[in-house]
Amino acid sequence: MSGVRKSYGDRVVLDDVSMTVEQHDVICLIGSSGSGKSTLLRCLNLLEEIDDGVISFDGAEISDPRVDARSVRSQIGLVFQAYNLFPHLTVLDNCTLAPRLVHGLSRAEASQRAMSLLSRFGLEDQAAKHPDRLSGGQQQRAALVRALCTSPRLLLLDEITAALDPELVGEVLSIVRAEAEAGMTMVLATHEMAFARDIATSVCFLDEGRILEQGPPSEIFTSPREERTRQFLRRVL
Ligand SMILES: Nc1ncnc2c1ncn2[C@@H]1O[C@H](COP(=O)(O)OP(=O)(O)O)[C@@H](O)[C@H]1O
Ligand SMILES: [Mg+2]
Repeated sequence: MSGVRKSYGDRVVLDDVSMTVEQHDVICLIGSSGSGKSTLLRCLNLLEEIDDGVISFDGAEISDPRVDARSVRSQIGLVFQAYNLFPHLTVLDNCTLAPRLVHGLSRAEASQRAMSLLSRFGLEDQAAKHPDRLSGGQQQRAALVRALCTSPRLLLLDEITAALDPELVGEVLSIVRAEAEAGMTMVLATHEMAFARDIATSVCFLDEGRILEQGPPSEIFTSPREERTRQFLRRVL
């Protein structure tokens, strides 16, 4: 992202945001509620149109309005805080829908891939169930598996553990950790500071729509340059 600006009405929500994500990076976005983390992720996934600046992906300028947003989104997975799964479909059908419709896999191919990912993350017994029969942690793990089934080049995660009971957070984060260790490129908004510190290659502190400070977690969490970052960390740590 380079010089990205985004306003809602006269409220500037992203103000001259520039950020580079390299392959295998795990970038954690931290900052108070309302600082623009979700908007940044939604812009990356072309769910929001930006007012100024450029977003490029693999060398192509995807913020160009002529770009086919669906084809970009087929390479960039996004998982939200909650309510990700289609309630009327089984877990397996949730996981095979996009691979079949968007990526053209056969039902057999899509099912095989989905079942192997569901098994890897301990969800094989849930495949035939509808989402409302699963615990919150299982639902969010299934939502992650659904995103992984499309083999995204980039995975965006927006506070995916925020709506979970504390004892369910770990099982979801362990999938994110496994994906990070496997080399998945990710940008995630999180308020799990210990987790961010542990897995991030780089941490961005957002404040009122600006990236106020960015660096390796060892730097941001131990010796932040900006007073605002220090204040924020004092509050949340
Ligand atoms: N669709 C929208 N319409 C108007 N204002 C919005 C919309 N989405 C977000 N905002 C505002 O943009 C600001 C940033 O929001 P958001 O990106 O959700 O922050 P965060 O994810 O860091 O909490 C907030 O002030 C929020 O109220
Ligand atoms: Mg948010």
